[in-house]
Amino acid sequence: MRRRNAAVVQGAFHATPVFVAKAEGAVIEDVDGNRMIDFAGGIGCLNTGHRAPAVVEAVRRQLDRFLHTSFNVLPYEGYVRLAERLNRLAPGAFPKKTLLVNSGAEAVENAIKFARCYTKRPSILCFDDAFHGRTYMAMALTSKTHPYKAGFEPFPSDVYRVPFAYCFRCAYSLQYPSCETYCARHIEDAFKRVVAAESVAAVIFEPIMGEGGFITPPPEFFPILAEICRKHGILLIADEVQTGFARTGALFACEHIGVVPDLLVTAKSLSGGLPLAAITGRVEIMDAPGVGAVGGTFGGNPAACEAALAVLDVIEKDRLCDQAILLGERFRKRAAEWQKRWELVGEIRGLGAMQALELVRSRQTREPAELETKQISQYCYEHGLITITAGTYGNVIRLLMPLVIRNAQMDEGLDVLESALQAVCDRKKEAASQPV
Ligand SMILES: Cc1ncc(COP(=O)(O)O)c(C=O)c1O
Repeated sequence: MRRRNAAVVQGAFHATPVFVAKAEGAVIEDVDGNRMIDFAGGIGCLNTGHRAPAVVEAVRRQLDRFLHTSFNVLPYEGYVRLAERLNRLAPGAFPKKTLLVNSGAEAVENAIKFARCYTKRPSILCFDDAFHGRTYMAMALTSKTHPYKAGFEPFPSDVYRVPFAYCFRCAYSLQYPSCETYCARHIEDAFKRVVAAESVAAVIFEPIMGEGGFITPPPEFFPILAEICRKHGILLIADEVQTGFARTGALFACEHIGVVPDLLVTAKSLSGGLPLAAITGRVEIMDAPGVGAVGGTFGGNPAACEAALAVLDVIEKDRLCDQAILLGERFRKRAAEWQKRWELVGEIRGLGAMQALELVRSRQTREPAELETKQISQYCYEHGLITITAGTYGNVIRLLMPLVIRNAQMDEGLDVLESALQAVCDRKKEAASQPV
């Protein structure tokens, strides 16, 4: 850690001080030989697990053939095969094309390029609590100021933000369902007060917000949003960087929300741990930019493409969508007990294996329990479980474990999480009973 601090920038944060030596499935071994259950999956990149054998084998085969030519110089079949497969799998029964890039943020940047180039409109609509990455356009689309945006201004222009369906902390202080999904309908109002509808190229949304705290809108939200956008000729960009590839119990979370996006942005679990991202969309939008207008040196690296093809096979063969649903149910059952026991557990939310706990100091005031969330995360890694937090207030514990985790490993992880909640609640009770 001393060498890390001397050589690596402090901005490249890590949630734990654990240095990894090796990993397999849902288990990590650190450099001191400690065994840990992984509920973070490298921030949701390992739905198929650490070193999934089929992925390792596919990469190994590619290592013996060639490692890089740049698709912009010499194309190769793996890139094309992956594009064909993503075109087939992405929601929507219309002709599609795909561009491969290196990271979620780069894919978001390119989705905006496609949308603007096709519609010839400048503006982009995005949401409170959204996270789309750390490059400049992605930062502009991201909501949380600290640590993501503060100090990096100015951002690209023509980005407009509206409230999301965060029912636990409704921007309009309304209650679902009596609100009749006011937040979705109110977007029409933004076209009067904030930006003209005919200036908006696209709205970019996460079906379930990732870094924002696994915010899961009610079922009416996205269909209303989609209807408003269609009426005004505004494209729908689904950012499924975190929700994609079986995490929510469907290959893409869009399948749950009743919306077919014009452009689908994917990354993270696409390639089982190698850097790769994709933009898949309607052919007429994807072919709007001219020859040479999109791409890059490393986009669609040959080994990463082979890894992604193997990932898609594993998801299908091992029925990881079904597995995600079972894991989610397993968590929910335990979490419901925790909520009965501890005031701290304010809300349990998510879909499939994309589940979270929002922690509060009081159920009545919903004061975010940021410090307690940090303490729980620390307790977990000190007791053999890697977790990560989320949320604009830093008070959400999110679950992104590999979907190949065994039931016994899942239960072991949940046991640690339960004892962490117990320890932190006991500590609070003790502190409250101390004379001032
Ligand atoms: C929804 C979403 N979009 C975009 C990104 C950015 O991806 P990357 O970190 O690969 O640039 C993330 C990363 O967490 C994300 O969760």
